[in-house]
Amino acid sequence: MLKKKRNLSHIGILSAMPEEVGVILDNLKFVKKSSFGDIDLFSGEIVINTKKIYITTAWSGWGKVSAARATTRLLSSKIKDLPVDFVLFTGVAGAIDKDLRQWDIVIAESVIQHDMDARPLFEKFVIPAIKSQKIFADKEILEKVYSPLKEKLLNNKFKIFGKLSKGLIATGDMFISEKIKIKQLSRDIDGLLAVEMEGAAFAQVAHQENLDWLVMRVISDGADENAHDDFNAFLNKYKLHSFELIKVFLESLLD
Ligand code: ADE
Repeated sequence: MLKKKRNLSHIGILSAMPEEVGVILDNLKFVKKSSFGDIDLFSGEIVINTKKIYITTAWSGWGKVSAARATTRLLSSKIKDLPVDFVLFTGVAGAIDKDLRQWDIVIAESVIQHDMDARPLFEKFVIPAIKSQKIFADKEILEKVYSPLKEKLLNNKFKIFGKLSKGLIATGDMFISEKIKIKQLSRDIDGLLAVEMEGAAFAQVAHQENLDWLVMRVISDGADENAHDDFNAFLNKYKLHSFELIKVFLESLLD
């Protein structure tokens, strides 16, 4: 049980690309679409651990602006008068930590925007709006999903995935595909596990609007000179499995 009272009856799930949420729509019932310009939000019902909940999902497109825009839309969506009470951003990421391999899963304890630099007015990486470099996920909610996920992976419950880690993920409007850039990021940001292009923008919006959030990523590439090829090949396989991970995530969250 979660100590803080949370409803968790309407959950928002975003990804940058449709492959990253996979067959989620085939698993929702009574799906309704709401369109805002070129973004579509899909809301529907699903049964998780015998409990009926609502999910609203969308793919934002790549990058921080697209992620922030989609998050704002998601946060104001309602289904049967129920507001969204938790949001997840999920998808793939490039590995910065040398021990990470394709299919390993990383859950963000915190996120940072590696392209934020308002010096000399603020220290490097400080987001002026919140006067902080990092945005931290709620510990209780993180542990709620981390331990059961870890156990299921150890018991080989969903085989294709690798090991699970938690830690720092960095976001920026940049696809990282150079060893020299990996070195620079690991030097500048202590304990950095992985990079992607949306999580910290999504987290900033959720944080500023007082909503619990998590970012969960699966390693697609090593952010090095092979990253483009690895990324494309990985995505083709990942789209067949991404919903398996989301389902186990939801089962753990709602347990
Ligand atoms: N998402 C997946 N791989 C990435 C990379 N190498 N750089 C940025 N975002 C990514």
